[in-house]
Formats: sequence, structure tokens, C-alpha cells
Amino acid sequence: MLSEVLLVSAPGKVILHGEHAVVHGKVALAVALNLRTFLRLQPHSNGKVGLNLPNIGVRRAWDVASLQLLDTSFLGHSDGAALTAEHVEKLKDVAGFSEDCVDPKRLAVLAFLYLYLSICRSQRWTEENLELINKWAFQGERVIHGNPSGVDNAVSTWGGALRYQQGKISSLKRPPALKILLINTKVPRSTKALVANVRSRLLKFPDIVAPLLTSIDAISLECERVLGEMAAAPTPEHYLVLEELIDMNQHHLNALGVGHASLDRLCQVTTAYGLHSKLTGAGGGGCGITLLRPDLERPEVEATKRALSGCGFDCWETSIGAPGVSVHTATSLDASVQQGLDSL
Ligand code: MEV
Repeated sequence: MLSEVLLVSAPGKVILHGEHAVVHGKVALAVALNLRTFLRLQPHSNGKVGLNLPNIGVRRAWDVASLQLLDTSFLGHSDGAALTAEHVEKLKDVAGFSEDCVDPKRLAVLAFLYLYLSICRSQRWTEENLELINKWAFQGERVIHGNPSGVDNAVSTWGGALRYQQGKISSLKRPPALKILLINTKVPRSTKALVANVRSRLLKFPDIVAPLLTSIDAISLECERVLGEMAAAPTPEHYLVLEELIDMNQHHLNALGVGHASLDRLCQVTTAYGLHSKLTGAGGGGCGITLLRPDLERPEVEATKRALSGCGFDCWETSIGAPGVSVHTATSLDASVQQGLDSL
């Protein structure tokens, strides 16, 4: 049992280029954001393990004793590498969920239960061991998304900017601290369904869709090359290339069928301010990113943010290349984060 409060955080992330294509073996470029999710693990003496996820309105508690009595042999001696459909079914029983379980709140509870029961069972918590954290995070992703490529958990574990292809990860050396807007259209979507739709489109029209995936791969590689050059000496021309790559990829993603009217709106609004945007992640709603060139004046950025908020979107101004999963002491935390945690 923990003797004191443990604070950990992991960065949010966006995929610069390569979403969907990465599921089909192509390259993705993913970057960690300076927007973090904090987790406070706090010892209690009330015999309960509680889960409080305020952002999505989940609050649950279980008796530790009853969890300890559960027969968790079905989990085996996994080291974060072996989640099966049967595991998920058993976890639904533990959580008291019915057959149909697609609600994101319920999926989050299932991911928590899986990690809690498995980690307790294997008696290993090595927070320095990034490989292990990444493996567990991947299993959490699998509970929620089914068959993820692994790029999302990898970039939130290692941070920075990663090139990811078929499980092979390399970090970009000294990525430029690009400023971006991260915009949440608040249109819900299922990553699992969108990934499956791209797969069906690839099977239905292989000669049309495969070249799109190859072209997205080339966009990721070109972006990697430009980011590498920018590490040494960023120029306005580099930003123009990044903007062109964003526009081309956004069109490809629309052709793959993962666009959405809300994302079209997002792109139109930012185009009106001379800025370039693309969806990031699964698409079908969800989030988009907008590149903020360094020459932009503050009033232009503020006006763009106001216009996006006017569409009902949430909008954060942030930068790329944040540190990966981290442990914090209470004293090293930002006052605003500390306040947020204290208000729970
Ligand atoms: C989701 O953030 C990214 C996708 O490429 C799915 C995946 O890589 O697992 C759409």
C-alpha cells in the first residue's frame, strides 16, 4: 500500500501525420503536448478503492476486500501483453455492466479495473520502467479501441516527438517547439468504428485507398525531414511546407472517410484567419489541430480562438514536444493544477 500521495502525469498528444495509415503499417508522427492529465493516487483507510475521473463524470468505489476475493486467475500472469476478449467479458461482470458496453465512461471503468486487478496481481509497480508502463497503457487502449496501433500510448509514455511504425519507435532529435491550437469539436466518435471503416474502404477499393495510405506515409516522412531541419534553423519557408502538408493530409483523411462536418467547419474558420488545420486522431468529429506560425500577432490568435469557441468548440493553445509520463511532488506542481486536484 502507498504510504503517501503519489502524483503522476502524462502528456496529451496529437498525431501530426499518419493517423489511420499507421494501422496499415505506415509511418505516423506523434507529439506530446504541454497539456497534461494528472493522476493522484491517495492512500485511504476506509477499505475502498475509489476511481474519480472528473473530466468524464465517473465516480466509482469498490471494497478492496471484495476485489481481493475475486478469482482473477483469468488474468493469468500477464506482463501487459495479453488482453483477450474473454478478459473484457469477465471485467464487465465485475463492474456490473450489461453485454452492450460502448459508453466511454463504462469503457474507462473497465480499463481501470483491468489495470488495477492485473497490476495488483502481478505485484509490480515500477514507475521508472517505461517499457512496462507503455505495455499496460497499450492494454488500456485495447479495452477501449479494440485494435490500436500503439502510437498513442507510446507518445504519452516517452513524450517528445516520435516516429512510429509497426511498433518500432524512434524519437525525433530536438523537435521544434511548434505552437498549435488543439480544438475539440465535442462531436463524439468511436475510434474502433472509424478504423474498421477505413479497413473496409481499403478492401473495397484497394487501388484507390492504398495509394492514399502511401501518400500519407510520404507526408509523415517529409514532415519528419522538415522538423529535423527546423531543429537547426527554422525559417518561414519551413512553416509554409508544414502548412501544405497539413492541407494535403486533411484532404486524404476526408477521402478515407474519416472527416466530419464539424471538422470542415473548423478548417473553414481557421482558413479565414490564414491558418491551416487538420483532424488529429481518429476523426469523425473529435479533435483537430491548427498550426500557429511564429509571425502571428497575439490579436490574430485570440480572434481565431474566439471564432472557434463561437462554433461551440473547446480550444487550447499549446506547444508540442512535452515530457512523457512523470512523477511529481506536491510542491513542484503548478498552482492551477494543485487547485484543480484540491477541488476534487
Ligand atoms: C487514433 O488516435 C489514431 C488511429 O491511427 C488509430 C491507431 O493508431 O490505433 C486512428
